[in-house]
Amino acid sequence: MERSGVSRRALGGLALGGVLGGAAMGLSGCERPAETDLKPKSRQFPKDFIRGVASAAFQTEGAQDVDGRGPSVWDVFEKVPGHVKDGSDATVATDSYRRFQEDVDLIAGAGLDAYRFSISWSRVLPTGEGAVNAAGLDHYSRLVDALLAKGIAPYATLFHWDLPQALQAKGGWANRDTALRLADYAQAVVGRLGDRLKNYIILNEAAVHAVVGHVLGEQAPGLKDVNLLGKVVHHMNLGQGLAIQALRAGGRDLNIGTTLALQPCRPAGGPWAVWNRLASDGLDALWNKAWLDPLLKGTYPKAMDDFLKGGVVHDGDLATMRQPVDFVGVNYYAPVYVRLDLAAPGKIAMAAPPKGAELDAFGRHIDPSGLYEMLDRVRREYGAPKTLVTENGCSDPFGTGPAILDDQFRITYLRRHLEAVLAAREAGCDVRGYFEWTLIDNFEWDLGYTSKFGLVAMDRTTGVRTPKASYAWFKTLAESGVLPSSP
Ligand code: FCB
Repeated sequence: MERSGVSRRALGGLALGGVLGGAAMGLSGCERPAETDLKPKSRQFPKDFIRGVASAAFQTEGAQDVDGRGPSVWDVFEKVPGHVKDGSDATVATDSYRRFQEDVDLIAGAGLDAYRFSISWSRVLPTGEGAVNAAGLDHYSRLVDALLAKGIAPYATLFHWDLPQALQAKGGWANRDTALRLADYAQAVVGRLGDRLKNYIILNEAAVHAVVGHVLGEQAPGLKDVNLLGKVVHHMNLGQGLAIQALRAGGRDLNIGTTLALQPCRPAGGPWAVWNRLASDGLDALWNKAWLDPLLKGTYPKAMDDFLKGGVVHDGDLATMRQPVDFVGVNYYAPVYVRLDLAAPGKIAMAAPPKGAELDAFGRHIDPSGLYEMLDRVRREYGAPKTLVTENGCSDPFGTGPAILDDQFRITYLRRHLEAVLAAREAGCDVRGYFEWTLIDNFEWDLGYTSKFGLVAMDRTTGVRTPKASYAWFKTLAESGVLPSSP
């Protein structure tokens, strides 16, 4: 099977114990017909609808040994042969630690309102705790000032998968103490930047980090231990609650949310569709509800019981995890298809997208209706909070060759997903903004530089940035506020 078919994004090869159990790697065809696109009545975005781009520290900054930064789990993971597809690493990435002003100029040049970046925990606290490294915070202070000088709103993610290695050595997210350390780190950031940095995203796609990093071992910290799952999930939820409290403690007027990888978990069709629904519901509990429910309802879905047994959840934790948020960040790329497999310990296996479905570079179904579905579900089941699409985008076909500069396929993908956003707004979803992933082709985790998502290409030898057709398209959209109807 092509590796992408079992990538983190397809959630393949799950080996979950307990209720959700382990999964076989087999694919079954799915007869669910391809979804049609959603057509909004109006193509006009409201004036205050935020248009931005998103990035992450480890994927862009480089400068790993500069200004007192400590190592993160990704520094360790990327060095192990076989972990990164092309054998590359992020020691330079897009060199954005040094070249951030160029990035800011590109964002401003596209007329965008906002930039979502992440702060590297191990620049702020090189060992994850203890004394604050002022030089690390200085960098983000400069970045925030540079953005504000151009009228761009900074949105900072506190944790985008790069846990300080020193905390990992103490058990990482499986250690309850890490939750407390996240709150300390949040406090250090807001203490220094809170006068200018108003928008905070606590965690990025905690589901991916928990499952792919701790069960599948395909990403840092590279663990394959299903027994850690309950603790990791819970401590991330708990840490998030504590971090929100820490940010709010200063009494500043902040805009605080978190970012979830929301994927519709769809049962494969065919004669077993009813049974497949059991498997897709099980995955949905772990992938979507185990993060939405604690934050917005103060509960865990029943399917998490087995993972959380043994005193993982302490008295008072549920109340701590449930925090008022100003927005829910939704990252959406594709739905996932699931089938029941009695031979698999957990009875869950991944299924192929419907026959004839249009696929992205990862072999996932390109289906804008999935974005609509998740936005609408957040509205219906979670009290219609404000939402931001904090990531959406598509990769060039995988490869080590140059980027495709005339990237019409990307424009089409973005246009169709933005139609879904407009349609969701018309259906009553309070979607306030959209961040495209990503500004510049960067280090795509375990795929290294073989996967390119940027609106801007980068020559890895010279660092020179070259805008693609999609950059010009997004600029037109940002400036006009009207979504073109083609391509
Ligand atoms: C998301 C991650 C982001 C990037 C995109 C392509 O899952 O949050 O860092 O890898 O996928």
